[in-house]
Amino acid sequence: MGDLSDKTFFVTGANTGIGRATAEALAQRGGKVVLACRSESRTAPVVDDIIAKTDNKAVEFLALDLGDLDSVRTAAASFLARDEPLHALINNAGLAGKRGQTTAQGFELTFGVNHLGHFLLTTLLLDRLRQTGSTRVVNVSSDSHYSAKGIDFDDLRRPTKGVGLSEYAVSKLANVLFTQELARRVPATEVSAYSLHPGVIASDIWRSVPWPVRPIMRLFMKSTEEGAATSLYCATSDEVAGQSGAFYVDCKRKDPNPVATPELAQELWSRSEAWTAA
Ligand SMILES: NC(=O)c1ccc[n+]([C@@H]2O[C@H](COP(=O)([O-])OP(=O)(O)OC[C@H]3O[C@@H](n4cnc5c(N)ncnc54)[C@H](OP(=O)(O)O)[C@@H]3O)[C@@H](O)[C@H]2O)c1
Repeated sequence: MGDLSDKTFFVTGANTGIGRATAEALAQRGGKVVLACRSESRTAPVVDDIIAKTDNKAVEFLALDLGDLDSVRTAAASFLARDEPLHALINNAGLAGKRGQTTAQGFELTFGVNHLGHFLLTTLLLDRLRQTGSTRVVNVSSDSHYSAKGIDFDDLRRPTKGVGLSEYAVSKLANVLFTQELARRVPATEVSAYSLHPGVIASDIWRSVPWPVRPIMRLFMKSTEEGAATSLYCATSDEVAGQSGAFYVDCKRKDPNPVATPELAQELWSRSEAWTAA
């Protein structure tokens, strides 16, 4: 990654798991890192720990609840008010396995947090990214997106069904589609966009899997540091320049689910724009 001391990174869901490992690695190389998270009490000790481990004081908390579009607007406004450049936005936060829930604005919770909140955050920060130039948007998707057959747009306004596996797959397909459409809409000289699967990682995302299955599963998973590798690669490596819109696994380009067509990406963008209009 080299020295990042002149660069600012915005990482969502950075208080734990892959996001925390991503933030720490960026801080280790001197990057200024904003940990955009929904709980100050869960994030403050992480900020302190990263500062202590990296000796980099340019690490801070910013309040962001992706399940509430008003919170997303407040977070973006608070960052923009500082009049600083932004070199990479890493849309990492995500959830799975929540039953029967919706966001503050009534969207299915998994889709609302994993896609819609990040869509609004990105579009609000996009001019800053464009002005900074040669910047990156990294959307942490999943290989679960391969199991989505498309998007039933009516379903997105209903609570999560069952344990939400199909909703998770759709939300992660949305991450891929959003990345592709962003790459079509914005010149790569200004902003490049990437989506990725981080691997099967021993993070808190498996919290809804019951004991004793969960500890056994974790034995076969990679660490959160390994899970951060592809996000860091997409956010900082020169090797991905010229590949805006691509999907990565293990720091290698891979074809995404063929249902990720330009037509579906365009439709998702238009609907997301309408849903997030103030
Ligand atoms: N772990 C895997 O094997 C795996 C595989 C494929 C893809 N992924 C993707 O990797 C990304 C990181 O997941 P992880 O494994 O590191 O999971 P994790 O340990 O559960 O961390 C998820 C992060 O998202 C945050 N988050 C959840 N809801 C939020 C909301 N409404 N607003 C703001 N932040 C919110 C969490 O905050 P709280 O602590 O406050 O809940 C937490 O910081 C996710 O996008 C996930 O879909 C993970």
